[in-house]
Amino acid sequence: MTTLLNGKELSEELKQKMKIEVDELKEKGLTPHLTVILVGDNPASKSYVRGKEKACAVTGISSNLIELPDDTTEEELLSIIDEQNNDDSVHGILVQLPLPDQMDEQKIIHAISPAKDVDGFHPINVGKMMTGEDTFIPCTPYGILTMLQSKDISLEGKHAVIIGRSNIVGKPIGLLLLQENATVTYTHSRTKNLQEITKQADILIVAMGRAHAINADYIKKDAVVIDVGINRKDDGKLTGDVDFENAKEKASFITPVPRGVGPMTITMLLKNTIKAAKGLNH
Ligand code: GUN
Repeated sequence: MTTLLNGKELSEELKQKMKIEVDELKEKGLTPHLTVILVGDNPASKSYVRGKEKACAVTGISSNLIELPDDTTEEELLSIIDEQNNDDSVHGILVQLPLPDQMDEQKIIHAISPAKDVDGFHPINVGKMMTGEDTFIPCTPYGILTMLQSKDISLEGKHAVIIGRSNIVGKPIGLLLLQENATVTYTHSRTKNLQEITKQADILIVAMGRAHAINADYIKKDAVVIDVGINRKDDGKLTGDVDFENAKEKASFITPVPRGVGPMTITMLLKNTIKAAKGLNH
């Protein structure tokens, strides 16, 4: 029997709970506020940013979007980040990635105050995550962990195989699963004999960015399969890195695309924004 890990449904539940918490904070005079910065007009980024603003509105978190032209200089963006860092009414700052070529992404991430870094991308927060200190966990890995925990899927001693080693998803989800006492294997585009490794996975996290690259042949019977891919098909519809119809018979739990990991990513951003408003250690 395969169970669907419905991220959309779980994220609606979590947002309802967060709305109650935000209402309570507002009564005490604290309105969590997120500033989103979007540079250029990448259509996918625009769509993600719209989703983030909408989710803020639903939970009562206030947000503003700073839209900058494609030819914005690094200095201009750094100066805007500085303003937001120094504005006490702003609790979270998110600079949507990717940035145009003239910008050094890492330099921009370094400029965001670690206390407002709701993406969890600043090296201080990455370091804290690595050592297991309380910090902002990057939203997609945080969402994946929350989905697994929502179904009481045990991680202890399990073999988790990650496909993909990005700073945003692959690397941090491996660290988080390690912290939960899983045995973690990282694989990526240069990995030899990928299928041999993925077939040993009790938990398979697929974040490679290639539509339907993974089918049942890569999956051990009754594995938990988490699909982080968001690929746009010719007809405009979204699809994952996993061939869902083919893979679902073999998995014990599987995420669909859409309505899987995607909605959870946005929901965890809200959670991190509330955490930033309350102060990191609350
Ligand atoms: N681009 C794709 N995913 C993300 C994310 O989680 N945060 C930011 N800032 N940019 C992204």
